Amino acid sequence: MQDQPLICIKGLKKSFGKLEVLKDICLEVNRGQVVALIGPSGSGKSTLLRCINLLTVPDGGEIRVDAQSLAFSGSATQLPKDRMLAGFRARTGMVFQHFNLFPHMSVLKNVMEGPITVLRLPKAEAEARATALLQKVGLAERAHMMPDQLSGGQKQRVAIARALAMQPSVMLFDEATSALDPELVGEVLQVIQSLARDGMTMILVTHEIAFAREVADKVVFMRDGVVVEEGPPAQVIDNPREEATRSFLGRIIGHTA
Ligand SMILES: Nc1ncnc2c1ncn2[C@@H]1O[C@H](COP(=O)(O)OP(=O)(O)O)[C@@H](O)[C@H]1O
Ligand SMILES: [Mg+2]
Repeated sequence: MQDQPLICIKGLKKSFGKLEVLKDICLEVNRGQVVALIGPSGSGKSTLLRCINLLTVPDGGEIRVDAQSLAFSGSATQLPKDRMLAGFRARTGMVFQHFNLFPHMSVLKNVMEGPITVLRLPKAEAEARATALLQKVGLAERAHMMPDQLSGGQKQRVAIARALAMQPSVMLFDEATSALDPELVGEVLQVIQSLARDGMTMILVTHEIAFAREVADKVVFMRDGVVVEEGPPAQVIDNPREEATRSFLGRIIGHTA
């Protein structure tokens, strides 16, 4: 199992009504690899992450995460039952653009909630784990604050700690910095970078091309529901083979420079 890809996606398909959003997506992610998923709005990036997390159920294809594999065949798809499904989901930690913290719970309680309710961890253990993770994202002193007392960057770091508390095999980030004021982007990127250094497997949907170049082992460019091009940043970002990739990068780098 060690030398197989941690995540293996084959022939993944998803339509919403007549709109084919994912057309035969194949993607492999190795253990410890950081994959940056880039592409224009509407190309299916969020849908792909949501399929990996089963927030969206694919119409066809296969997803394997670690040792657990699921095959999809439209309405005939048999999803695992509640606890198995929760177990599959728990392998993937998801961080969204909007942090979705529980507003009525303290920072610490936000991070403890999943381990207690899904993993059935004893409270003391969940608290110790949450405290260590808040330390890791630089928010140990904010543990007893409420989410609305935090800045956007701090909220997003809590959201990252909350996802990590489930000890996922892979972290999925869907434009985790897009809703932040520019001066708060750096602190979140730093946390993501420290996770990369720790060897966390990650898929990042991002428009931060400079960051993708620095942190990603592999860049995947998607457009209109297909993977157009993938490879190391030095290829896909600095020397793209496909015209579509070049034109996308030209537009996005033009805008952010
Ligand atoms: N739940 C949904 N119902 C209908 N259409 C959807 C739904 N989710 C996404 N879409 C459509 O699928 C396409 C891809 O969306 P998305 O995966 O969000 O792209 P991206 O994240 O690359 O911007 C878009 O045209 C979007 O409008
Ligand atoms: Mg999206």
